Amino acid sequence: MSEPVLVAVAWPYANAEIHVGNLTGSYLPADIFARYQRLRGRQVLMVSGSDSHGTPITMRADAEGTTPLEVYQRFHQGFLEVFQKLGLTYDLFTSTHTENHFKISQEMFLALKENGFLYTNTDLQWYSPASGRFLPDRYVEGTCYICGYTNARSDQCDKCGNLLDPGKLIEPRSRVDGSTPELRETEHYYLDLGKLQDQVVAFLRERESYWRPNVLRQSLGQILVDGLRGRAITRDLDWGIPVPLEGWAGKCLYVWFEAVIGYLSATMEWSQINGQPDAWQNWWLNPESKAYYFIGKDNIPFHAIIWPAELIGAGDTFARRMNVPDPRPMVLPHDVPANEFMNLEGQKISGSRNWAVWARDFLSRYDPDPLRYYLTVAMPETKDTDWDWEDFYKRNNDELVATWGNLANRVLSFTNKHWEGVVPDPGELRPEDSELMETIKAGFETVAREFEAVHLRAALAETMRLATEVNRYLDVQAPWKQVKTDKEAAGRSIFTALWAIDSLKVLFAPFLPFSSEKLHTFFGYSQPLFGTQSTEVRQDAVAEHTVLRYHPGEASGRWEPSQLRPGQQLNQPSPLFKKLEESVVAEERSRLGA
Ligand code: MF3
Ligand code: ZN
Repeated sequence: MSEPVLVAVAWPYANAEIHVGNLTGSYLPADIFARYQRLRGRQVLMVSGSDSHGTPITMRADAEGTTPLEVYQRFHQGFLEVFQKLGLTYDLFTSTHTENHFKISQEMFLALKENGFLYTNTDLQWYSPASGRFLPDRYVEGTCYICGYTNARSDQCDKCGNLLDPGKLIEPRSRVDGSTPELRETEHYYLDLGKLQDQVVAFLRERESYWRPNVLRQSLGQILVDGLRGRAITRDLDWGIPVPLEGWAGKCLYVWFEAVIGYLSATMEWSQINGQPDAWQNWWLNPESKAYYFIGKDNIPFHAIIWPAELIGAGDTFARRMNVPDPRPMVLPHDVPANEFMNLEGQKISGSRNWAVWARDFLSRYDPDPLRYYLTVAMPETKDTDWDWEDFYKRNNDELVATWGNLANRVLSFTNKHWEGVVPDPGELRPEDSELMETIKAGFETVAREFEAVHLRAALAETMRLATEVNRYLDVQAPWKQVKTDKEAAGRSIFTALWAIDSLKVLFAPFLPFSSEKLHTFFGYSQPLFGTQSTEVRQDAVAEHTVLRYHPGEASGRWEPSQLRPGQQLNQPSPLFKKLEESVVAEERSRLGA
């Protein structure tokens, strides 16, 4: 059997719309990677869902005078629409507000408790005398005691990236009403990270050679400097997952403790939906399985420290509690290719100032592939990047349309015109024809190497370079002229170019799935390259929810050069991409901040 690959994608908080920064940060790279892995024939499972608990949701509900349930369901519905339109092939996109997720989170909690990695402690928690209730750490802001940033959340500083000890925050204020909160005693469960530190460090060291530097800095680097101390994993809240113990009414599992468990619970939900309830073990208990976590840099500590610590601490106890006959420890993250941030026209993206390119809005005016293309070339893999409308416009016209779209369209149309849409017989190939074919064949190796290292920008750049090679070949051969004097020679060039384009279609497919699928049909193939997506409503004891599912179905895509044969009947082509008017730059810029 081929290697199982888990593509774990950050769970968006169901309290805000998706913008291009969110897409390029985690959701899109995950999909590109998953599509590549599927073409390689690996057993891919891509899962995520709406992060429906926690203060981001309750704060929005408070502000709107509605319920957290209503907020979560509304935004969740919006995510499903955007993700489907953009072609994000989640095998399952669910939510944390399901009976299954409640149960699995509670089981993980109990496994950690059973293994001695939880302890209770009575500690001080923010309490608002003004509203008569405990305030979650996120409701309290103040000055970071490490870097001095004045808008730090009490549990995490977005400026320096450190997890914070809430009690140490300088000049705390409530985000609800600005009043000054006080600290009061309350009992909570803690994850004993100190006890797990050596194992977490060993886990990180094993991955040190290939993890991104920013991820290592915020995990291994930070532990070596500060060490790990226990962290509270329960909260005084009523919106969330109840602590599964007698006498703990009114307290819930901390949203970050349970949201990361979503990767596991969603895999289990997928297994149930698919009628193979044990299938999850293939990704979570099989040592051959590789798990990749696609997240933004603000999520690094939770995925590179806390989640591995939960998995290490659960050991084989979780599997045993699930009655697995041969219990094994949990599969730890193989890679956490976190991205930096994308800015917009030189400024930080901000939803509240409407300084954002919203995915839904964008997709009402443009096709998904140009968005996927631009978000890949500008993907913040190593440093913050910038969405610039001028750059978007130019790359669409000068690269996507000029280098790739026109190449495909020109050669297919020409074949239609002079060979009635039948792939010509090349006869004997000349060295220059074979040379181009060898270049493209080698591309399947060079592009794959970039993919395996999760260097998606480089993988796309290499693919574009190959498209340029085909254009160069055609410039030299000039079949448009050849055809007038030597139709046989022209047929040879056209066969070679068609073969190259049919191959490039596969290399481009993870990035540009819609146009590759379209091109695939122009070539006359009957089976689609990829499967299909659909949404379905699921009844649930906790709350009815709608999920997005990818069905591999009849997919025929393979990571291999074209098998095109002379005589194959092509279909009528049409342009793959639209050329944009320069006026869109000013139009789009005028929408910003409005
Ligand atoms: N909801 C979090 C955010 O948007 C990400 C959670 S990822 C998870 O920042 F795995 F923890 F769910
Ligand atoms: Zn800070």
